Amino acid sequence: MNITYRNTITVEDYNTLRKSAGWKPIHAEQAAAGLTGSALIVAAADGMKTIGTARLVWDGGYAALIKDVLVLPEYQGQGIGTEMMNCIMNFLREKLKPGYSIQIDMMAAFSKEGFYEKFSFTSRPRENRGAGMDMWLKGD
Ligand SMILES: CC(C)(COP(=O)(O)OP(=O)(O)OC[C@H]1O[C@@H](n2cnc3c(N)ncnc32)[C@H](O)[C@@H]1OP(=O)(O)O)[C@@H](O)C(=O)NCCC(=O)NCCS
Repeated sequence: MNITYRNTITVEDYNTLRKSAGWKPIHAEQAAAGLTGSALIVAAADGMKTIGTARLVWDGGYAALIKDVLVLPEYQGQGIGTEMMNCIMNFLREKLKPGYSIQIDMMAAFSKEGFYEKFSFTSRPRENRGAGMDMWLKGD
């Protein structure tokens, strides 16, 4: 299998990958805005077929967020998620200068913490840090 990696993804492929994980699709206009506004998109392909994605939201300073790490079920367990995460981590590492530091947030899907621990993420709550928290704001 020859998996290739690129830095773009269509809204359709993005939402197909979301659905494959049982996640709700994002409104096409919002998804397009989110993809355009990402600091980095990684998309994995098998030939013409998009089979994985991951993206980075980053403010250019210390605050970064990894979102939408997804590999189609039939392609999981073959190192594709790792390769996409490495692309994001290397992108950020290259931004570091002496004295810089970047805090990378990510909210693991249920039972996926172990995957991220391999990249040195640690679960919260811990020590003097509270749990990660989130919410959805919804339009009418
Ligand atoms: C989580 C996910 C992205 C991992 O991608 P993947 O391509 O299957 O992962 P890899 O093949 O690169 O696995 C890398 C390592 O992580 C481990 N790993 C994968 N999923 C894991 C899990 N849920 N818990 C613990 N370890 C896990 C693998 O065993 C492998 O370990 P090894 O290097 O010791 O062999 C993929 O399973 C997925 O898309 N899941 C559905 C969507 C999802 O929940 N995404 C996470 C959003 S936070």
